[in-house]
Amino acid sequence: MSEVVSYENKGNIGVISVNNPPVNALAQVVREGILNAVTAAQADASKAIVLRCEGRTFIAGADITEFGKPPREPGLPVVLDAIENSAKPVIAAIHGTALGGGFEVALACHYRCAVPSAKVGLPEVKLGLLPGAGGTQRVPRIAGVEAALDMITSGNPIGAGKAAEMGLVDEVVKGDDLEAEAIQYAKRLVESGAPLRRIRDITIDPATIEPGFFDNARKQLARRARGQIAQDKIVSCIEAAVKLPMDEGLQRERELFRELLTSPESAAMRHIFFAERQASKIKDLPNDTPVRDINKVAIIGGGTMGGGIAMCFANVGIPVVMLEINDEALQRGIGIIRKNYSITVQKGKMSEEQMEQRIASISGTTNYADIGDVDLVIEAVFENLELKKEIFAKLDRVCKQGAILATNTSYQDVDAIAAVTSRPQDVLGMHFFSPANVMKLLEVVRGAKTADDVLATAMQIGKKIGKVCALSRVCYGFIGNRMLGGYGREAQMLLLDGCTPEQVDSALEGFGMAMGPLAMSDLAGLDVGYKARQSRTDLPDDPKLYRMGTLLVEMGRHGQKTGSGFYKYDPATRARMNDSEVETLIKEEAEKLGIKQRQISNEEILARCFYPLINEGALILEEGIAQRPSDIDVVYVFGYAFPVAKGGPMFYADQVGLKNVYDKICEFRDRYGEDYWKPAPLLKKLAEQGKTFAEWGVENG
Ligand code: 3HC
Ligand code: NAI
Repeated sequence: MSEVVSYENKGNIGVISVNNPPVNALAQVVREGILNAVTAAQADASKAIVLRCEGRTFIAGADITEFGKPPREPGLPVVLDAIENSAKPVIAAIHGTALGGGFEVALACHYRCAVPSAKVGLPEVKLGLLPGAGGTQRVPRIAGVEAALDMITSGNPIGAGKAAEMGLVDEVVKGDDLEAEAIQYAKRLVESGAPLRRIRDITIDPATIEPGFFDNARKQLARRARGQIAQDKIVSCIEAAVKLPMDEGLQRERELFRELLTSPESAAMRHIFFAERQASKIKDLPNDTPVRDINKVAIIGGGTMGGGIAMCFANVGIPVVMLEINDEALQRGIGIIRKNYSITVQKGKMSEEQMEQRIASISGTTNYADIGDVDLVIEAVFENLELKKEIFAKLDRVCKQGAILATNTSYQDVDAIAAVTSRPQDVLGMHFFSPANVMKLLEVVRGAKTADDVLATAMQIGKKIGKVCALSRVCYGFIGNRMLGGYGREAQMLLLDGCTPEQVDSALEGFGMAMGPLAMSDLAGLDVGYKARQSRTDLPDDPKLYRMGTLLVEMGRHGQKTGSGFYKYDPATRARMNDSEVETLIKEEAEKLGIKQRQISNEEILARCFYPLINEGALILEEGIAQRPSDIDVVYVFGYAFPVAKGGPMFYADQVGLKNVYDKICEFRDRYGEDYWKPAPLLKKLAEQGKTFAEWGVENG
């Protein structure tokens, strides 16, 4: 047939095999191959056709690398028509993940069988798209409107068992050999005279849908979509599945799919899809770099971060020993872990039994002798360099040779920590984000002497515990926290210039940030930044700098934990409310400092807060702290809730145009001085050359 699609008649069953590694994406050659095979099968002696895949998975979707390029025939709908109109039953045999266009291929088949470990799903929404080959029309017809809405707007895959309950899979096979099982299943269907069952022939009775159902769904989704436009269009497609005949529904779906395909949101989300995968690759490490076995982990410090990190490992079945200063601290730490798991159980996302199993895999100790046999240690004690050095010297004495010693420090010098050990090659930073069991980002911090296999192991274990990993070299705050400095500073400066806290936060939330910077400081505790600033000697001596944050802390307003900060908080609901006392205080302070307050546009708020991030990002690239611009985007999307539909700060800067960003930074420099606004040489160079960060990333390989 073709290199990637073969066809063979095996005992009256035609078997189409797709072999397009790594994930059997529906590239043009695959589409053409399937079309040719289905056509050929119509004319031979086969009684039914099995569609299966080689390698690790069934078709995982359209080939995302083809998006944005001129379409090449045959289009997927043509292939699906051929399958659905086949005169012989076509049976999809699913293993791995049947996703997106891949699952749509399976849905066009007359029957679907799957191994128990298989998953099916329509993840297009995660790329800012909707299923463009009938997914929105076929899933509601077979699984119901509500289930379809949930599946397609969440994009989350469903296991074979659940899919069978929902009618999306007809047979979950028992044996290991899927091809043989699928052939047997096909034979049984033929023998029993099973009909050519086409999902398109099902109609949904509109009377079964409650009035207002779709409007309510739109409202609910708008609340959680944060600038993503696909959700609303998915609702429209499913509504079309109820109200329109199949062909008109498919046409509507195709139109909306095309609209999304050319949207900036989808371009940004596709950028993040590839950026995420690239970030885990270390440029100067060969693919075959060996990795060390990680079968047992120790966490030093069972506080906010230590507890969350312990959960990450327990969740994937890796035993953890948590070391604390005393029994009381240990019990407190384990208590918080139990409380966190109980919330998951209450939400019905975990069984009591699973919770007990996971807690049982976390043991506690106050004795270093108990961690001598672990393969990986992650230190998460107070943010104090001397304390961390003391602990690493102890670890060096007690840990077995070959153990990896990691620090979760936010700001401290990983090389200084490594230097107190006799094995700096085994030391690195593994910087998690709070809450560590929830946030997806893991910054892997490469010390000057960190060994290659230690880095490769950290990347691999990070993926195993469900994190998105990005590599950073050592600097103050690494990639993420270092860039954040100017963002928080400007949010406060804007207050003195005339904004209310609400105005600053709303502008950034309107852009898509989950929470504005001032509300975020209230949540984290204003005293945290206050204390951190006291130990810094590098900050300019400027009374305007963090003026409001400092004053609020000195008034006892530490944020949510004291009921007030930049805002006041309802004690019962924690709802944030504007506080006229703070607004008056801001005005008084501006007056004292001789600042003439003015109306400030949302555009200026965004530029003042984001351009320092971007400028620092450019410095980080020049200094080689981050490997690529897209790694910085990954850090911000997965660690700081930067809206994925904007693609991360560096991608966003490319969209705004680096010349525009540079010119604005120069304007701010002229207005506010070089202490805060000094254009990075790389930004200046690229702006002058009319280039983007993405182009620079490609040139710098
Ligand atoms: N198109 C092109 N390349 C793809 C791809 C796709 N759909 N899916 C994965 N890849 C590439 C990855 O970029 C990666 O490449 P690399 O090795 O060069 O970095 C390689 O395949 C392996 O991918 P992962 O590292 O993600 O492998 P995993 O085993 O961890 O995960 C997976 C496998 C679950 C299939 C995951 O890759 C995935 O979720 N893929 C995307 C699935 C998807 O979104 N499908 C819908 C596409 S849109 C669509 O179908 C539109 C339709 O409705 C018309
Ligand atoms: P925390 O104060 O909640 O917990 C620290 C824990 O360490 C306490 O339970 C304490 O009893 C324990 N501890 C102190 N000295 C110890 C010792 N000698 N031996 C064993 N345990 C000891 O602090 P948090 O927030 O968990 O931070 C820990 C580290 O993680 C810090 O380096 C911090 O900068 C970093 N971090 C914090 C983040 C956050 O958002 N809280 C995010 C990312 C990193």
